[in-house]
Amino acid sequence: MTFYDAVGGEETFVRLVRRFYEGVADDPVLRPMYPEEDLGPAEERLRLFLIQYWGGPRTYNELRGHPRLRMRHFPFRIGAAERDRWLAHMRAAVDSLGLPAELETRLWEYMVYAAHSMVNVPEDE
Ligand code: HEM
Repeated sequence: MTFYDAVGGEETFVRLVRRFYEGVADDPVLRPMYPEEDLGPAEERLRLFLIQYWGGPRTYNELRGHPRLRMRHFPFRIGAAERDRWLAHMRAAVDSLGLPAELETRLWEYMVYAAHSMVNVPEDE
């Protein structure tokens, strides 16, 4: 069984990413970084990426091509502050799922690793 199936499949990722973007929508630092007025398309891209990453359908690649996420984030200034806000909203979203501890830890550790790898300005700038 894939991790995608173990956590409950598409429905779980719908809930996770919806909750995450509710946080972003009210965040004075992160919200202005999103180029589109409607956060819906960004929500869909993150959801499809995570579904694919965890072993679900590969729709993300069909629509967007290879993720190359670090490169796709270069237009945005991501320092420690942005990273930590992103992670705070993701923490709330992960908590809202009520997953078994082992699955929750695996999901969360990936988010921490991925968010740190997206930082593209030095810590002290
Ligand atoms: C896109 C911000 C971390 C996955 C974006 C966009 C912004 C953004 C402003 C453009 C909105 C869009 O067009 O979709 C940030 C910030 C982060 C962060 C401030 C803080 C560390 C992450 C992480 C992941 C991720 C850790 C993956 C686990 C994505 C994906 C897209 C995206 C999949 C859409 C890429 C595309 O197909 O164009 N992000 N992001 N982001 N982000 Fe992030």
